Amino acid sequence: MPGLIREITVCGGGNGAHALIGTLLARETVERVRLYLPLDEERARFAAAVGREFRIRTPEGERCSPTEKLKITGDPREAARSPLIVLVVPAFAHGPILSSLAPYLTESHVVVALPARSGLEFEMKRLGLPSALVGFQTLPWACRVAEYSRRVTVYGTKRWVGVACLPADRTGEAVQAFGPLLGVEIRPLGSMLALSLANPGQLIHPGIMYGAFGKKLDEVFPSEEAVPLFYLSVDGPTAELLSGMSEEVMRLKERVEELSGMGLSGVMPLEEWLRRSYGEAIEDASSLVQMFRTNRAYQGLRVPVVRTDGGYRIDLHTRYLTEDVPFGLAVTKGISQIFGVATPLMDEVLEGVGRWLGKRYLSQGMLAGQGLSETRAPQRFGIQASGQLLEVYGL
Ligand code: NAI
Repeated sequence: MPGLIREITVCGGGNGAHALIGTLLARETVERVRLYLPLDEERARFAAAVGREFRIRTPEGERCSPTEKLKITGDPREAARSPLIVLVVPAFAHGPILSSLAPYLTESHVVVALPARSGLEFEMKRLGLPSALVGFQTLPWACRVAEYSRRVTVYGTKRWVGVACLPADRTGEAVQAFGPLLGVEIRPLGSMLALSLANPGQLIHPGIMYGAFGKKLDEVFPSEEAVPLFYLSVDGPTAELLSGMSEEVMRLKERVEELSGMGLSGVMPLEEWLRRSYGEAIEDASSLVQMFRTNRAYQGLRVPVVRTDGGYRIDLHTRYLTEDVPFGLAVTKGISQIFGVATPLMDEVLEGVGRWLGKRYLSQGMLAGQGLSETRAPQRFGIQASGQLLEVYGL
């Protein structure tokens, strides 16, 4: 894999893609960055910016790179000329982008998802892609576009990011190649299944939305300052819900390990993940409530809202629900169902937020119907039994 990083295709034109482009343009080892933008408007805006400088601002300072290495394309065949294809888009865009690239992807390509969220391995199998898959647990940066196609601000970089591969034996190569490329510590998670289950956003985001904001959906907040802080709204019952869902994931982990012999050490209780990820940024780690409330990285972030007459209302189309439920929680529910692990708390959240979104994910406690067809749960791809599921991971 280290040899592959001279030519890279970036798929996506949002915040994360800007941060990645800024990072890659500054690397001497990278000779060509192809930017694959199937959306016409984004492609036109980026094409107009080539030849100018691209700026990335981090807490350490601003870096400015020339853009000669950048080639903008909407042609999937051209995009597939790089051996390394990096998807930096929300999970709902993985399927459409991979479908367009599918005819041109070969065994020698490596597809990277930054981040992967859950269940991408099932989508790859459905498309019959022969390429290797590298999935990251999260985006290394908290970032926003400052000026489209020209400037990005990186507010913070994670201490480390988990990675998994399919096939799993390529993980070592991925750790070696992507650490220096992305400028962040990469830790192996063992397997793509561990990555799917160890997706912390699938618990934290829908769990807090359901637990802390379920009774506030009709409220109108008169000003931006009146919009509640997201993580500071975690109260005792919400923390209990999160902790309970995390225990359900841990029971599933044990069950899978018992049945398959697979090691899923990357899947850890939520409290431990918070401690390991944020370390000293958490002032008081005495309880889960305090871990959320005193985490410096979480300060100032408000619940997502939309403008409405007279102020702001909670946004039900937030990624916290539209990404973390179908490409997170529902996938873990599906895997739990296959291994016969009961998940009453996950079910409650899926049913609750499903009602808000006008979707029904469960019927008699099982994933089913229209709701299921919009998720990346294994059942959507016809995987119903543990043997079939483990086969995806080469077991
Ligand atoms: P974004 O909303 O800025 O990116 C959207 C981009 O995706 C669009 O600009 C477009 O280029 C592409 N896209 C969307 N639908 C498409 C389609 N059907 N076909 C082709 N391209 C399509 O999202 P952002 O912020 O870049 O996030 C990317 C991922 O990183 C998400 O999973 C997000 O949850 C995650 N993440 C982002 C963080 C951040 O600070 N931006 C922090 C942590 C995670």
